[in-house]
Amino acid sequence: MAIRQIRKMGDDILSKTCRPVTEMTEKISVLIDDMLETMYDAQGVGLAAPQVGVLRRLVVIDVSTDEDKMEPLIMINPVITESSGADSAQEGCLSVPGKVADVTRPTFVKALYKDRDMNDCEVEAHDLLARCICHELDHLDGHLYVEKAEGPLRDVEAEE
Ligand code: NI
Repeated sequence: MAIRQIRKMGDDILSKTCRPVTEMTEKISVLIDDMLETMYDAQGVGLAAPQVGVLRRLVVIDVSTDEDKMEPLIMINPVITESSGADSAQEGCLSVPGKVADVTRPTFVKALYKDRDMNDCEVEAHDLLARCICHELDHLDGHLYVEKAEGPLRDVEAEE
């Protein structure tokens, strides 16, 4: 496993559309492990493949708060099939370090995806996990949360 460099806002790769993962290869498997390590190292709750420079439809998410109980969700070719509700809350992104802004997202989503064994899976997510899934999936189509921000980006320090 290795920590990969996180691409920052302004990098062209973050505005590109990602291609599906067609089969699980050694390369993709290593990418998943590296993305998890990179996300945890950066203390993020989610990371999408384009953020480490790979244009594939793959995200990793972990919204668990207890370091002893890491519960990574690995989503390959994810698609949101249902969503409902709306809530505005603070959001940040590892590609936009030190900044946060309020974004309105659904409070519930249902999504289909493949796990790392390429089995079909479905997740029903509420609140923070729903928000995180929406944020990460936007990355796969070249979108950053800043496009949906309500008001200017704030410095993280200003929140304390
Ligand atoms: Ni992000």
